[in-house]
Parts: sequence; structure tokens; C-alpha cells
Amino acid sequence: MSLSNEFYWEYEGLLLPSETHSSASVKFAQEFHFKDDDVIAVTYPKSGTAWMQEILPLVLNGGNLTPIQSTVNWDRVPWLEETRLEKVVDKMTSPRAMVSHFPYNLMPSSFHNSKAKVIYVMRNPKDILVSSFYFHQMAAFLEDPGTFDEFIDKFLEGRVLFGKWTDHVTSWKLAKTEDRILFLTYEEMVQDLPAAIRRMSDFLCQNLSEDAVQKIAEHCTFKSMKANPMSNFSLVPKQYMDNNKSPFLRKGIAGDWKNHFNSEQEARFTSVIQKELEAAGLSFPYN
Ligand code: A3P
Repeated sequence: MSLSNEFYWEYEGLLLPSETHSSASVKFAQEFHFKDDDVIAVTYPKSGTAWMQEILPLVLNGGNLTPIQSTVNWDRVPWLEETRLEKVVDKMTSPRAMVSHFPYNLMPSSFHNSKAKVIYVMRNPKDILVSSFYFHQMAAFLEDPGTFDEFIDKFLEGRVLFGKWTDHVTSWKLAKTEDRILFLTYEEMVQDLPAAIRRMSDFLCQNLSEDAVQKIAEHCTFKSMKANPMSNFSLVPKQYMDNNKSPFLRKGIAGDWKNHFNSEQEARFTSVIQKELEAAGLSFPYN
């Protein structure tokens, strides 16, 4: 059964938003030539992608704030699979930083033949669901999420952008190129951002000074990003994203699901996710 509708089209079984992704853009991604020093942050949607678009360029340039002060995040660290990449790729300087929502199996062949590094950010799927529920209300290019209960079913069945969360996480956790992947969690970033930045710095062989780590952390807090027009999506025309309906940088916390799920919904959700992860030999790291 086709899942495509007026908002989405289907690519390799995954729903992609027609506004930002086209058959030409995914072809461009599949033919993209990765360089050995490329770095790509991979996330399931609503796991902290924009946060990585803030942190990554600073970790790669020693904490120089120019990129986050002068360039909107979608051009600064473009999505591999979105239409925008083709327009900005020639202006990108190495080491290039990108983001992607692709599962491992959709990464282009040149990625596998390169030494490009991946930072995979995982987030509690209950918080992802809440964040996504509000995002669908503010982004006019996404379909109405329905009720919260209906959205839970859609999420569990994978009738949402980029498919099932469990498939995405499993694809990367079981990836063959594990030595080229740093697994970070949104929760550890919320809890101790400087520590997460140090992990990134070590993984990317950047040898950042403690002053640089602290400076980057300070400029990548939720509060700093919310005040930065280059990062808070306020420059996107209101007809596409209406920050008055729900801001893109909404709450920025771990555990907001507790304000939204009732106990029946939570039990149903956790049981499905747990079973699917266990079937893949993984455990569910959240309560
Ligand atoms: P909430 O809706 O829970 O607030 P993505 O960029 O993948 O779409 O993810 C968006 C989520 O990341 C939103 O979650 C957003 O607020 C959160 N986020 C972005 N920057 C953040 C930061 N500096 N600190 C904490 N959360 C951040």
C-alpha cells in the first residue's frame, strides 16, 4: 500500500516531505562523492539535528563563531538528501560537515568507500514523538498529526517521516563501519554538553582546548540557539514554519514525554519498541 499523499512521497519504503526532498535530491545524495575528512551527523528526525548543525562546525574550526553568526543552519551544515545541498555544495570548505536522516542502508556507496566519520545522535523515542507532534503543527509542509493517540499509532507503524524509529536506530547500531561512528545521545548532551563536545573533539581528532570546549558549549545552549536568527528557523517564511504555533526550539529538555503520555499509552509504546529492539538483539536504553 502506498503511503504517499499531498505532503509526502515514498522513497525505498520511507516517507519524505515533498517540499524539501525530490527524486533529483535523493539521486544527488546517492551519487554524492564523500571525502575522507567529511563528517556527517545522522539522526532520526527530532533527535537534535539542528543542535549538531550548531556544534559540529565549531568543533571542526576550533571554536570560531563565524559560521553560526553568519550562515543559516541549513546552508551551514546541509542535509545530504535535501534539495538545498546541490546549491551550496561547491561553497563548502573541507572538512565538510553535513547532516542526514538516512538509515544506514541508504547511505551512498562512496560513503562506504571513504573514511568519512559519522556522529549518530539517539534520543528517547517518547520525547521524539512529542517533539514531532508539535513540529507537525508548526510546519505547513507536514500533514496534520491527528490526535496524540493517533500519532502514537502512526509512529509505531512507521507511517511517519523516515519510517520506524526502531529500524533507523537498528540500522546504525548494527552498522559494519562501527569504528567510524560515534554514538551520542541527546540526553547526555542535555546533561553535560561540554563532556559531549569533548567526546566529539576526541573522535574527530580536533584536540580542542578546554577554553574552546567551554566557549562552544556556551554558544550552543538551547537559550543561545533560540536567540540566534541563524539557528532558530525564524528566517523561514511563516507560511512554511510558524514559530508562533509552536517554536522549532520548543523546550529542549529530556523527559517532556511525561507531560503527554498517559500510562496506557506509555505501556503500549514501550512494549512495541522494546520487542522490536530485542528482535534485533538490542535493548531499550530508556525507561
Ligand atoms: P523539543 O521539541 O523537544 O524542544 P531536530 O533538530 O532533529 O528536528 O530536533 C529538534 C529538537 O531538538 C527540539 O526538541 C529542539 O528544541 C531540540 N534542540 C535543538 N537545539 C537544542 C539545544 N541547544 N538544547 C536542547 N535541545 C535542543
